[in-house]
Amino acid sequence: MSSRLERETPNAWKANQYDNLSNSQAHYEQTGPEIWEQTLGRIDHLVVGVGTGGTICGVAKYLKERKPSVKAWGIDTYGSIFKKYKETGVFDKNEIYPYVTEGIGEDFLPQNVDFDLIDHFEKVTDRDAAIMTRRIAREEAIFAGNSAGAAMAGLLQLADRFKSGEVVVVVFHDHGTRYLGKMFNDDWMREKGFLDRKGLTARDLVVNRQEAPLVTVDRAATVTRAAQLMVENDYSQIPVTADGRVVGSLNETQLYAAIVRNPETAHQPVETIMQPAFPFADIFTSLDALTGMLTPENPAVLVRDFKSEQTYIITRSDVIKALS
Ligand SMILES: Cc1ncc(COP(=O)(O)O)c(C=O)c1O
Repeated sequence: MSSRLERETPNAWKANQYDNLSNSQAHYEQTGPEIWEQTLGRIDHLVVGVGTGGTICGVAKYLKERKPSVKAWGIDTYGSIFKKYKETGVFDKNEIYPYVTEGIGEDFLPQNVDFDLIDHFEKVTDRDAAIMTRRIAREEAIFAGNSAGAAMAGLLQLADRFKSGEVVVVVFHDHGTRYLGKMFNDDWMREKGFLDRKGLTARDLVVNRQEAPLVTVDRAATVTRAAQLMVENDYSQIPVTADGRVVGSLNETQLYAAIVRNPETAHQPVETIMQPAFPFADIFTSLDALTGMLTPENPAVLVRDFKSEQTYIITRSDVIKALS
C-alpha cells in the first residue's frame, strides 16, 4: 500500500526501512560507536533481533571493523526465511507461515540484511519470546517490547556458545506499552496457550517482591510485640524464631483466641502460645504442591530461594492473586 501511495501521490517519498541502506548506515554511524564506547571495546558478542536487518548489520559492520573477532548473532522467528537462507542459500517459501512475534523475521530478503555480517541465526518460538518479555519486566524492571523477549530468549538458547568472561550485548528495540493488550495481558496470553497455569511455581508468586528480610518474632518476645509486628506489616501470621532459626508460628485467629481467653497472655512470651513452624518449600515448588500445603491449620509456607538465600512467606492470598 505504501508503494502504491508513493506512486499515486505527487512529490511523495517512501522511507522504505527495508531497502533504504540509510537504515543500516545510521546504525553504523551511531548505534555501533555507542555500543563500542559503552563497553570500552570489550564487546565479544552482539545479539539482535533481525527485521529489516538495519540494526544488526550497521552495528556488526562497525564493531567487526574495530574488532574482527566480534560475533553477530541474529534472532529470527519460526515462520521467517532468514535462518534457512543463511545456512543453505535457499529461499524456501515453505519456511513462511504466520507468527505472533512482531518486528523480527521476514518473508522476503530486505536489502539491509547483509548475510555476511551475521554469523548465525537463532530461531525463537512465539511462546518463549512472549514469556521472556514478561520475565524481563518482572525480573529486571525493564518494560521492553516483544522482540526484546525474543532476543533475550535467543541469547539464553545460545548460552553455551559464549565463554566465561566474554561480554555479550543484547539490543532491546522497543518498549512494552505497545504490548499491553498482548504479552502483558493475561487473557491474551492464555488464549494463545502461552500461560500454563500448571507451570506456575512459588517463584512466580514472589518474583515481584522486594528483597527484604523475612519479618519474624523471637520466641522470648511478648505476645503484644508479636501483635504489634503483625499489625504494622499487615500480616495475619508470623514465623517465630530462636537464635534466628524458625521454631514456631503465630496466626491472627489463634492469637486473638488466646488473648480473649486470658488478657494476661499479652504480656507472656510468644513461645507460650506459639504453634508449629510453617513448612519450608523450595522456590521451584509447583503451585499445586503449595496449595496442598496451605490448610486452615497451616496458613503459610516459607519458600526458600537457595541461590539468593532469601526466604519468602506465601499465604493463601498470594495464591488467590496468582490464580485470579
Ligand atoms: C519492535 C522491533 N523489534 C525489532 C526490529 C528489528 O530491527 P531491524 O529492522 O533493525 O532489524 C524492529 C524493526 O523495525 C522492530 O520494530
